[in-house]
Amino acid sequence: MRAAEAININDLRTLARKRLPRMVFDYIDGGAEDELTLRRSVDRFCDYEWVWNSLVDVSAIRTQTLVFGQPSAQPFFVSPTAASRLFHPMQGELATARAAQAACVPYSVSTLASHTIEDIAKAAPTIPKIIQVYVWKDRGLVRDFLARAKAAGYTGCVLTVDATVAGQRERDPRNGFSIPPSVNVKTATQALARPGYLFDLARSPKIGPANFQGVDTGGRDVMGVINELFDRTMTWKDAEWMAQEWGGPFAVKGISTAEDARKAVDSGASVVWLSNHGGRQIDTSVPVVDLVPDVRAAVTDRIEVIADGGVRRGSHVLKLIAQGATSVALGRACLYGLAAGGEAGVTRALDILAADVARLLALLGVPDMKDLDGRLLRARP
Ligand code: LAC
Repeated sequence: MRAAEAININDLRTLARKRLPRMVFDYIDGGAEDELTLRRSVDRFCDYEWVWNSLVDVSAIRTQTLVFGQPSAQPFFVSPTAASRLFHPMQGELATARAAQAACVPYSVSTLASHTIEDIAKAAPTIPKIIQVYVWKDRGLVRDFLARAKAAGYTGCVLTVDATVAGQRERDPRNGFSIPPSVNVKTATQALARPGYLFDLARSPKIGPANFQGVDTGGRDVMGVINELFDRTMTWKDAEWMAQEWGGPFAVKGISTAEDARKAVDSGASVVWLSNHGGRQIDTSVPVVDLVPDVRAAVTDRIEVIADGGVRRGSHVLKLIAQGATSVALGRACLYGLAAGGEAGVTRALDILAADVARLLALLGVPDMKDLDGRLLRARP
C-alpha cells in the first residue's frame, strides 16, 4: 500500500510503522507511563453518539472556521510537533507545511522544529501560520524568536504550558531513543531493519532545533532541552508578558480547567487551547472531549477554543466541534502521514479527514458546520 491508497489514519500509522525504525515510530506513537490517556483519548470519542436531522438540503456543505482569527477551509489544522525531520529526514516540516498550504488549513510550527521558521514560511506562503513557544530561561532567545516569526509572516502565537518537564515516556529509554537518533549497540538492530530510513538520515543534515543553532544546548537532546533549558519558574505573569510581546492573536496551550481558561483570557489570550499533549505528559489526565463544554461556557464568544488529542477520524473532529470547540488541532494524524509518504502522506491524512467531515455533516443534516452543537450528541448511557 502507498500513502495515497490509505483509507483511514490507521492505515497511515501502519505504513509509518513499516517505514520508521522502531525507536522513531515509538516516539510519535507512544505516550506517558501506562499510556492510559493516550488510548482513552481515542476511545472516549466512542462514548458520544449522534442523533441527526432528517430531510435537510445537504447539497452544499460548509466547513470553514477561524483559527487564531484567520480563515481555515476545514475545522482542523496542523498542531505544532517537535523535530518533524525525524519522521521524514529529507523534508520534515516543509512537507507538512506544503500539504497544509494545498489544503488551505493553517500550520503551526514548534519551537523545536527541525527546519527554520523562515524556510517553513516559504513552503506555505498564503495559509495562516502560527508559532509555538516554550520559554527558554534566556528571555532574549524568546524575544528574538518572536521577532523573527513576525518578520517571517506568522500571525498567531501559542505558548505551551503543559510541558514544564518532559513526561515519562517509557518506550523511549527502552528503545535507546534520542533526538537526533543515534545508531549504537542498543539501536543498531532497529536501525538496520529500516535501511531506506538510514540512508535518508545519513545524507541529510543533523536533526536538531534548527531555529536555535547558535544556542549551546550542551549536547542535550530534545528532552534534555525541555528539562534543563526551559524555564520552570513560569507563571501567568510570564504568559501576560508573552501576550504583550507578541501583540497579536495569542493562545495558551495545554490547559484543562475553566478556571485556567479564564486566567488565560485575563492574561491576554484570544485563544484557549485544551490539550493533554497527546497523552505524553500526565497519564490518566482527562480526555479533552470531556473538557470542552465547561471551558466553552467559561469564556465569551470572541474567544476561540481549540482542542486536540486522539483525533483519528472526522467524526472525532466533529464531536469536539459539537462540544464547543472552534477548531481542532492534528498532531499524530499528520505525522503518521508524513512518515508514510512525505508531503503526499500528509495530504492523504488531511484529505481523509476532510472527506470524513463533509460526509458526516451531510449525514447529520447539518450543511453548515457553524450550526453543529451539542444537541446532536448524546453521552452513551
Ligand atoms: C513531545 C514534546 C517535545 O511531546 O512536545 O515530544
